[in-house]
Amino acid sequence: MNYPYKITAKDFGQGFHWGVAIAAAQNEGAYLKDGKGLSIWDVFSNKTGKIKGSVNNHHTCDFYHRYKDDLLLTKALGFNCFRFSIAWTRIIPDGTGKVNKEGIAFYNKVIDECLALGLTPFVTLYHWDLPYELEKKGGWTNFLINRWFNRFVTVCAEAFGDRVKNWIILNEPFGFTSLGYMLGKHAPGKTGLLNFLPAIHHAALAQAEAGKILRATVSKAYIGTSFSCSEVIAYSNKKEDVLAAQKVDILLNRLFIEPLLGKGYPRLEEFPFLEKLELHNKAWKYTERLHFDMDFIGIQNYFPVVVKYNQFIPIVNASEVKATTRNVPQTAMGWEINADSFYHIIKRFWNYGGVKEIIISESGAAFKDKLVNGVVNDTDRIQYFQQYLGALLKAKKEGVNIKGFLAWTLMDNFEWAAGYNARFGLIHTDFNTQLRTIKNSGYWFRDFLQK
Ligand code: BGC
Repeated sequence: MNYPYKITAKDFGQGFHWGVAIAAAQNEGAYLKDGKGLSIWDVFSNKTGKIKGSVNNHHTCDFYHRYKDDLLLTKALGFNCFRFSIAWTRIIPDGTGKVNKEGIAFYNKVIDECLALGLTPFVTLYHWDLPYELEKKGGWTNFLINRWFNRFVTVCAEAFGDRVKNWIILNEPFGFTSLGYMLGKHAPGKTGLLNFLPAIHHAALAQAEAGKILRATVSKAYIGTSFSCSEVIAYSNKKEDVLAAQKVDILLNRLFIEPLLGKGYPRLEEFPFLEKLELHNKAWKYTERLHFDMDFIGIQNYFPVVVKYNQFIPIVNASEVKATTRNVPQTAMGWEINADSFYHIIKRFWNYGGVKEIIISESGAAFKDKLVNGVVNDTDRIQYFQQYLGALLKAKKEGVNIKGFLAWTLMDNFEWAAGYNARFGLIHTDFNTQLRTIKNSGYWFRDFLQK
């Protein structure tokens, strides 16, 4: 479907949250400054071979020193809110010990600057940068992680809760548990079910427990957590492809929201993986504790997936038919561009019934941008946003309670395993000089927000 290009921010109504999102490990740099401890990404990105181009995230866009300029740019583009994450290692450098006053001071400055500029802060509590000292003790596989994380959340809530009301607890729990603890592609680089299963269970518990802490500590808090999600399409009507799609759908879309809504983990007889997960749950009798009534759910959808049966792939017996082999529009990451699919997944989450409000807590795309004479003419990204915002408006008009859209991302930054090759920003970053250049998509957003 083609969505009308003539829409503007006004069509979404008053009080809508229009923002950009960034993350500490991707933007801050200054990886050891002012008492900060090492995170798993500081260590993992430093191992050659793990990241494209053998680069690390130690300096990246230097948001730590340039936050004032970057917030000013956010304001200049017309946004009214700013999502950033707090590095656990700045607040509690070794994860469990002393609180680092300089870390608190840094985020106080960022928050106060946001407020002075009229940007409502949205704070993410965990965007994948676990303290390395905790990883040495097993990280998300250790059941003590919940105690450690709860303390970090409490410290943040007490330090910032007077001014920060909007909280996103975890960024994409399926993302960091699968890539980091099953596939080994992200930090900490672990693999296998013995790591994956406990990591899932502890992350599911973390989102609910942190929610309860925030509710008890921060007055008038607006609490949510974010999920990666993808419409899953079976390659054919054959029984085995349909079953393969069902299994992948459980992993990609249902694994974390269902326990959060109080439904427990999903079940499917033909998927023994879930029984193993259930064992973790039973052993600790935690179903009740996995439940928390969030004020909103953050949706992050980057692509749909087409799935077919593959007997050689363990656990799911399924493999993805990549967009690169399917002759469909795609981004520089090889991810399918499909605004209809974005619309479908929003409706799907809304149709759970227990979801009160939805914020699109990330949305964006990487393209092969070229900076020519000080201009990045990224028409593909502009079209991307036009299409996706059109789809979002359609869902909103049909009654989905959508409260905000946060573009991913303010500026080109460290894109995890893809290093600095994948540019998602509305602003171009020159990683040698730290020069920022607003791309045409940034100007397009400014006009869209002003009209
Ligand atoms: C993550 C971001 C990431 C983006 C693009 C999301 O899964 O939250 O940190 O940069 O996708 O890959």
